[in-house]
Amino acid sequence: MIIRSKKASDVPSSEITSEDVYVNRRKFIRNAAAGAAALAFAPQALKAFDGTPGQVVPARFKGMKSELGEDLNSYEDVTTYNNFYEFGTGKDDPAKNSAPFRPRPWTVTIEGHVNKPGEYQLEDFLAPHTIEDRVYRMRCVEAWSMVVPWRGFPLADLVRRVEPTGSAKYLEMTTIVRPAEMVGQRGRVLDWPYIEGLRLDEAMNPLALLATGVYGMDLPNQNGAPLRLITPWKYGFKGVKSIVKIRFVEEMPLNTWQVQNSREYGFFANVNPEVDHPRWTQARERRLGEFRRRETLMFNGYTDEVQSMYAGMDLRRWI
Ligand code: MTE
Repeated sequence: MIIRSKKASDVPSSEITSEDVYVNRRKFIRNAAAGAAALAFAPQALKAFDGTPGQVVPARFKGMKSELGEDLNSYEDVTTYNNFYEFGTGKDDPAKNSAPFRPRPWTVTIEGHVNKPGEYQLEDFLAPHTIEDRVYRMRCVEAWSMVVPWRGFPLADLVRRVEPTGSAKYLEMTTIVRPAEMVGQRGRVLDWPYIEGLRLDEAMNPLALLATGVYGMDLPNQNGAPLRLITPWKYGFKGVKSIVKIRFVEEMPLNTWQVQNSREYGFFANVNPEVDHPRWTQARERRLGEFRRRETLMFNGYTDEVQSMYAGMDLRRWI
């Protein structure tokens, strides 16, 4: 994300809930070969990778590809080149500045048009759901991209569980505000808290993931610990991090980037190579770690899974 103004997880492993308990290793969706390989490896201890000598990302990810045959970006790429303005606007700021952040214990408040509002502990969310690893292409509005093995559970599972009523048309999702631990929130570079929205049918799409981990380990702080959104057919800014509130609302919510600059950012933010950002083309992208630029794919390559949700909509208007 670019705006004009400029400017690790170290939870003791004893406090980290092992998600491996919940992982259904048979469900490596979108990568059958990788799923088969995963069965062959013993479960790895789960904790955020912190660079301790000898600590390695789980071996089952070696050689894993996306469903289009793309290599995964390295754990280092994924965790050192981040947008998380709560920790600073530089790409390396979140990795450098997020160590003081405490992602556990964690409560998520569910509000609005649902039969089961309330305060849910992170563990309440994790326990009943099947945690899966999913390799997703991520495309940032700034025209760089990565391929990332996220770990998480379908947002649709959570939505069903809290039982939206007929008035719930959209979800508004909010990031935590904790300036004492988030150095970027001590300034006004964005209007805190960071907010994102999805239409209810988008939230129910099987691709929409609430991620709790990456590379088979808990999310590091800089990637949005302990819970963040992933919608791989949309530009990366939809991936609201460190979510503390989900409100089910009737009206389309405004997201943080629309508030910041409504000419440049819309509600839907679907990856669309045919519609340029006002200041640069969206037709190409640079995969982190590569020099040549690639052609950007409509809906980031997930057209079959998502296009029916936008039938009849003018995607030049609804950016
Ligand atoms: N969420 C919050 N709370 N704050 C942010 O600054 N940046 C967004 C999104 N979620 C952001 C956020 C943007 S612009 C991108 S591209 C993705 O997070 C980046 O996610 P990553 O760092 O895991 O790649």
